[in-house]
Amino acid sequence: MTTEPILEPEPDPGTDSPVVGIIGAGKSGTAIARLALAAGYPVRIAASGPAEETALMTDIIAPGVVAGTVVEVIDGADIVILAVPLRRFPELPLQQLEQHVVVDAMNYWPPIDGILPTYDNTDQPSSVVVRNALPGTVRLVKTFNHLGYHQLEDLPRPHGAADRAALAISGDDPDAVAVVADLVDRLGFDPCPAGDLAGSHALQPDSAIFGTGLDATGMQRHLAEDQQPNRAA
Ligand SMILES: NC(=O)c1ccc[n+]([C@@H]2O[C@H](COP(=O)([O-])OP(=O)(O)OC[C@H]3O[C@@H](n4cnc5c(N)ncnc54)[C@H](OP(=O)(O)O)[C@@H]3O)[C@@H](O)[C@H]2O)c1
Repeated sequence: MTTEPILEPEPDPGTDSPVVGIIGAGKSGTAIARLALAAGYPVRIAASGPAEETALMTDIIAPGVVAGTVVEVIDGADIVILAVPLRRFPELPLQQLEQHVVVDAMNYWPPIDGILPTYDNTDQPSSVVVRNALPGTVRLVKTFNHLGYHQLEDLPRPHGAADRAALAISGDDPDAVAVVADLVDRLGFDPCPAGDLAGSHALQPDSAIFGTGLDATGMQRHLAEDQQPNRAA
């Protein structure tokens, strides 16, 4: 895993740049953190332990990221990205997420999560189950989940590059989707609208796009073709 920025840092984004807060400092969380730093965002990150413990690791693998507690990171962020194993999602201080734009980068992945009846015994995509567990004021958007962390590291390209990969984005709130689409674009991917959360089976494990690194044209074609409900992991 490289610690070098994939993209050239953008010019100083100034104080208007949204703060990206990442909950989960593992493989996917730190990959997203490095991309966001390289794109010029202020980035804060939390794992389950004290901030000092998280910083011991992130200072090495994502230098420039500010470690905090989960509550500190949520409170200081304009965009909160959830990158914890889904089985640990209920541990998070969900009420603290009120009013936030929240990105669900998680997958229901039984080899890691075990069988979780809440996600297994339903036709709903996992993000709908997640949304229903959150305060109603949370504006939840799903993306980042359908690429492996190594792909998140390797695939970003500057805007307009011919071989730029796409990231599908699902969400019920168009303004929140637009905020996250801008983030995705600045991180080096073509944002690809994928409808509301009820249709986010199309982003889950076993979907046609999962793990593929498609460009925007291929992504849109697969999303249009993917009519199958309940693509569970
Ligand atoms: N790995 C991938 O390629 C990939 C790609 C896309 C999406 N995803 C999804 O992203 C999520 C994370 O996967 P991962 O592979 O990055 O996992 P990981 O490497 O095991 O890292 C999980 C991180 O979540 C943190 N965490 C767990 N419980 C927490 C809590 N209650 N509060 C705060 N932080 C907590 C862990 O911190 P502690 O060590 O302190 O517990 C750790 O930093 C999963 O839902 C996965 O399906 C993974």
